[in-house]
Amino acid sequence: MSNPVSLTEHILDQQRLNPDATGEFSTIMTQIVLGGKMIAQDLRQAGLLDILGSTGDINIQGEEVQKLDQRANDTFVQVFESSKIVRTVISEEMEEPYTVIPAERTGKYAVFFDPLDGSSNIDVNGPLGAIFSIHRLSPTNLENGSSLYLKPGHEQVAGGYILFGASTILVYTCGDGVHQFTLNPGIGEFLLSGSNIKMPARGKIYSVNEGNRQKWSNGVKKYIDHIQEVDVETGRPYSLRYTGCLVADVHRVLFKGGLYLYPGEVNKPEGKLRLMYEAAPLTFVIEQAGGIGSTGYERIQNIQPKTPHQRVPLVIGSREDVELVEKFLKPEMS
Ligand code: AHG
Ligand code: MN
Ligand code: MN
Repeated sequence: MSNPVSLTEHILDQQRLNPDATGEFSTIMTQIVLGGKMIAQDLRQAGLLDILGSTGDINIQGEEVQKLDQRANDTFVQVFESSKIVRTVISEEMEEPYTVIPAERTGKYAVFFDPLDGSSNIDVNGPLGAIFSIHRLSPTNLENGSSLYLKPGHEQVAGGYILFGASTILVYTCGDGVHQFTLNPGIGEFLLSGSNIKMPARGKIYSVNEGNRQKWSNGVKKYIDHIQEVDVETGRPYSLRYTGCLVADVHRVLFKGGLYLYPGEVNKPEGKLRLMYEAAPLTFVIEQAGGIGSTGYERIQNIQPKTPHQRVPLVIGSREDVELVEKFLKPEMS
């Protein structure tokens, strides 16, 4: 076995390579890691504590808030509050952006996060995730108030996720490759378990909630029909896997190739998933690994966001697979 490298060491090494680094970004990453470890610990004993089930509230997305959604959100907010480096945090579970830094100080970063992804898996011990996206605020952003941290995905400084599965895994990119760390629960450290991960150019697994088929456009239906056809030469039919946890499905896509889709629907063209803390950070990871994140009509990272909780259709995965979906949807572009 090669020498173990902890995530903290890895982040500090990257900081040393950048002469302009002030250490603030490394501190934010360290805070996310701490939040991830605390949530992993909660999840391990969820059935033993009174933290399963719903809070009785409905969030900004119109969805029922689970006690663990709330608890994971509070955990991340608390870790960011403790060191006061992040200026603003924007979470799926908070209607308004939350300013952490007091007015007399300036923080250079905004963090977007989905504190718990795959909430419908909470009560059945299925896989769960957390997703984060870090943006640097320019001086104009700082002067002009909150709406200006809404920047396209290609401006992210870092993006990644934590997958709470059979083991707890953190995957992130700062734009110099995709790195994976696995939590060693015995020592409470994330240790490097994969660096510069590259994904297959094409796969043979697709991931979609096919119960929604009747709501899709013809282009989406035709694409799914296409990959279900039998054609040995082109590796069809594809196999279907769907966990109900975007992080878990995208993690599989990262290693095995293929694609995940949450398309828009005829009566809901914007789809379900959120741009800033689901689609954009996962696209950052997948594109760094050689894949593509798209709405089916345009690239996710080029979208100029208008609101923090904006939804987008998402087609993400292996380059050749996503490009084929784009071809099927092209005739539907207005
Ligand atoms: P969240 O739990 O953060 O609200 O996200 C749920 C998302 C995503 O994780 C998953 O792939 C998708 O919603 C599942 O939606 P359906 O139940 O509509 O398939
Ligand atoms: Mn989610
Ligand atoms: Mn969530």
